[in-house]
Amino acid sequence: MALNPILEKIEKLRDEIELHNYNYYVLASNQISDFEYDQLVKELEKLEKENPQFITSDSPTQRVGKDLTKEFNPSVHKFPMLSLANTYNEEELIEFDRRVRDALPQGEKVEYVVEYKIDGVSISLTYDNGRFVKAATRGDGVTGEEVTANIKTIKSIPLKLKKVDNQKYNFDEIEVRGEVFMGIEDFEKMNRERSITGEKLFANPRNASAGSIKLLDPRIVAQRPLNIFAYYLLSSNRQFETHNENLLLLQKLGFNVNPEFALCGSISEAIEVIKKLEEKRYSLPYEIDGAVIKVNSLRQQSILGSIAKSPRWAVAFKYKAKQAFTKLNEITWQVGRTGAVTPVAELDPVLLAGSTISRATLHNYDEIIRKDIREGDVVVIEKGGDVIPKIVSVALEKRSENSVTATPPQTCPRCGSVLFRPEGEVAIYCENTECPDQIKGRLEHFASRGAMDIEGLGEALIGSLVDLNLIRTFADIYSLKEKREELISLERMGQKSVDNLLAAIEKSKTQPFHRVLFALGIRYVGSGAAKKIADQFSSIDELINASEESIEAVYDIGQSISSSIRKYFSDVHNIDIINRLKDSGLKFTAEKKETGDLKLLKKTFVLTGVLSKYSRDEASEKIIALGGKVTASVSKNTNYVVAGENAGSKLQKAQALNVQILNEEEFDKLLDRE
Ligand code: IVH
Repeated sequence: MALNPILEKIEKLRDEIELHNYNYYVLASNQISDFEYDQLVKELEKLEKENPQFITSDSPTQRVGKDLTKEFNPSVHKFPMLSLANTYNEEELIEFDRRVRDALPQGEKVEYVVEYKIDGVSISLTYDNGRFVKAATRGDGVTGEEVTANIKTIKSIPLKLKKVDNQKYNFDEIEVRGEVFMGIEDFEKMNRERSITGEKLFANPRNASAGSIKLLDPRIVAQRPLNIFAYYLLSSNRQFETHNENLLLLQKLGFNVNPEFALCGSISEAIEVIKKLEEKRYSLPYEIDGAVIKVNSLRQQSILGSIAKSPRWAVAFKYKAKQAFTKLNEITWQVGRTGAVTPVAELDPVLLAGSTISRATLHNYDEIIRKDIREGDVVVIEKGGDVIPKIVSVALEKRSENSVTATPPQTCPRCGSVLFRPEGEVAIYCENTECPDQIKGRLEHFASRGAMDIEGLGEALIGSLVDLNLIRTFADIYSLKEKREELISLERMGQKSVDNLLAAIEKSKTQPFHRVLFALGIRYVGSGAAKKIADQFSSIDELINASEESIEAVYDIGQSISSSIRKYFSDVHNIDIINRLKDSGLKFTAEKKETGDLKLLKKTFVLTGVLSKYSRDEASEKIIALGGKVTASVSKNTNYVVAGENAGSKLQKAQALNVQILNEEEFDKLLDRE
């Protein structure tokens, strides 16, 4: 039967988008530009909006649900989710192999598969007829929590399994287990952004993953850079013979399977592989805390079964955290972009897990006191689960008698201003916005990859340029072309690198408005918030003139962001810099949105009272999608006040100002009107 041509088009788009997701998130090789990808998604969204009867839950547009979770429902695992016994040395692995062989028919050959033990959170995914239907956490192994809406946002998870030519499998229902994790670079980027927005930092990628999958709002989960490695396949009917084949099948079905698995003919071969994998440990883009060794034959696995909470056919081998002793010469204090002054341990350089370590962060003064770390101490530093080295302890027996506890500085180590410690915070701040280290920090943020992305303008060059008084504000960056000769005379800068730098600076002028907004480094305004704000306020002038309430009316933007924005624009220095940046040609106006349906373009709405069909957020989103704007308070510039049940003073004000008032039915009509 021929499909409806629209449905056909919709399905084609879905397959295309999911293929690009797969290429990008699993194979890490994108075939099209972000722009082209966005166009495909927009086209699909439009068709689905016009033909809502064709929307299905496995459409890529449905990855991010809108509903908030009130609580996570319990989900009983079909087969318990076991954990693994740990081993720590070769002898224990040989002992494991002996136990395995003792439990199997005499003389049977045993093969093993060795994999990395990914440091994340385990998850179970259920597919019904090839479609993703459920995700659950491990919980106590018997009952987990259903986190489907959150896990669905992870783009490396297939919503529809790829077709494979395989008679052995009945795909009526299969369960895939794996580890949700966050890549190290993604994790660090996220934490950097969180520090800009003043949010609490995550201690390590694993904590960040665990916290993310338990968030109540899938829209926030969607912004977290989560990924998954699948390592286990369960199906009720006859399967392949081996785990190795299962892993290869998982790859074919579209899952991200960690590529570092190896089939080994004996325990000694497995031990070799485990050692080899350990050598690569610190060059991986994600964190692992060991290796897992599994009996390859599924028949043997079922003979071996499990004891208590772990299988007898697999064990984990835990890699030791790499530690080294070194001397802490000095505790110095570093000033960041926001003025936060943090202690840094200056160490005698020491080689640890493949890199030379000469500094380690001490986070804050409280940590110095808690760990009783003093200048001159011999300390133990460690690269553990976390890639960033930390000081774990002090060798007290080696402490000299006259050592003293460091005191936090009273004045800024860089500019000498008096420092300030806000009540209830552990951080201390330099409040002088002209402090050279703050200036450097701001410029580094401005030029960084997620912001203006000026290649070649990194920490070292910015440091020299500020020290030589060649730049101080963002605007100075765009006048650098007038200082070509001075630039060429700088150390390590030739004609060519100066030309490249100036070209990169010119190119940054094409960055869209939301990037520019983010680059300004307004406190609490991360890249996500900047995007949302730029969607609502189409130019910086509109934003400068906006009230705190109307900024807060933007979906997801809270009071701390809106008041920080107001504060930023109330400073004449900032306005002055913005004007100079405008003159240089940076984009302070949002590009025209899609040409689709923008029938509410430039129309300003105020929502009041309770609507029956929509929440406030949903109503706002509908208005914004059609080009309109939502503000919090009624003024003569308001075009419509939408009044639901129990509308209060805003309704009165609308009447007084003669603003058109819509009840819910009229509002509906306005949205639907062609
Ligand atoms: S197999 C019965 N393979 O380690 C099979 N687990 O302590 C159990 N993990 O809960 C899981 N990487 O969260 C397996 N390649 C891997 C793994 C892995 C990480 C985690 C998983 C599990 C825990 C076991």
